Amino acid sequence: MSERFPLDWLKLRESADLAARSPALARGFVAALPSTRPLQLVDLAAGSGANTRALLPRIGGDQLWRLIDRDRDLLVAQGEEFTLWARRQGYPITAGGGRALIEARPAHWQIEAMPLDLDRDLATLGEFEFDGITAASFFDLVSAEWLGRFVALLADRPVPFLAALTIDGRREWQPHLEDDALIAEAFAAHQRGSKDFGPALGSRAPEGMEAALRQAGFRIERAASDWRLGMGQGGGRDHALLTALLAGEGRAAREAAPDRADRIDAWENARLSFLAEGRLSLTIGHCDLLALPA
Ligand SMILES: C[S@@+](CC[C@H](N)C(=O)[O-])C[C@H]1O[C@@H](n2cnc3c(N)ncnc32)[C@H](O)[C@@H]1O
Repeated sequence: MSERFPLDWLKLRESADLAARSPALARGFVAALPSTRPLQLVDLAAGSGANTRALLPRIGGDQLWRLIDRDRDLLVAQGEEFTLWARRQGYPITAGGGRALIEARPAHWQIEAMPLDLDRDLATLGEFEFDGITAASFFDLVSAEWLGRFVALLADRPVPFLAALTIDGRREWQPHLEDDALIAEAFAAHQRGSKDFGPALGSRAPEGMEAALRQAGFRIERAASDWRLGMGQGGGRDHALLTALLAGEGRAAREAAPDRADRIDAWENARLSFLAEGRLSLTIGHCDLLALPA
C-alpha cells in the first residue's frame, strides 16, 4: 500500500507538532553540530518542510538543507510553505524551482527539495555531505529491516541525528468511552500494516530505534513530545485537528476491523457529540529521540 500524506493534513498538524516538540532535545542536536558553516543538514521524509522550519531558527549561521521526500507534490508545495513562513517571520525569501533562499541576516538559509524514495534508494543519501540528519513523524512508518539499513548508514557516517514526533502508542481520549480500547486496537493494527517500507514499526519505533542506535554506538536521549489536544483552554484551536483525527481514526479502524463497523460508527458519533459540546480532549503519545555519535 502506498500511503499518501495530503498537504492539508500536514498543514493542519504543523502547529500541534511545533508545540509538542522537545526544546531540550532540539538544543542538544544544535549543540552537537559542528561549528563549520554552511552547515549541511538533511530532513528525511520532509513533506512540506515543517521539521526544517522548526529547526532552522534554532541553528545559528549559514545552513544548506536538503529536504528529501518521494512525494513530488509535497516537494513542490515546500516553496509556498517556506514563503508564507518566512514572511511571517519577517525574512526576505526567494523561492522557485525546488530551491529557496531565506535571508536571515547575516545568515543565509538555503533549502533544496530532493525527490528520493528512501525505501528504494536509501544508499543515495550516502552520496551527500551532511553534518546532521533529522526527521519528524516518519520513523513509525518504516520497517525494522529499513531501520537496520538506515542505522548502518549512520554508523558509517556518524553525525548527530534527531527524530522528532515518533508515535509511541499512547492515546487517551476524554471523556472515556467503553469502546476506546476496541478502536485503539484496530487503529494500532492498521498502523502496523504493510506500508511502502514493509511492515511498519508503528508504536514500537521508539524502542526499536533506541536499541539499534545504541548497539551501533550512539548515545541516546529521549523525551516525550505528546500532542495534547482539547477544547478547554485553547478554545476552538484544536477543533479542525480533532475533527480530522476522529475521521481518520474511524476510517483506519473500520479498515482493520470491518466486522466491527457498527460499534466504530457509534464510537465516532459519540466522540463527535463531545466535540460539538466542547468537552473532547485527546493526548497522543509521541517521543523525540536524539542520537549522538559516541
Ligand atoms: C507524516 S509525513 C511527515 C512529513 C514531515 N516530516 C512533517 O513533519 O510534516 C510522512 C512523510 O514521509 C514521506 N514518505 C513516505 N514514504 C517515503 C519514502 N519511501 N521515501 C521518501 N519519503 C517518504 C511522505 O511522503 C510524507 O511526506
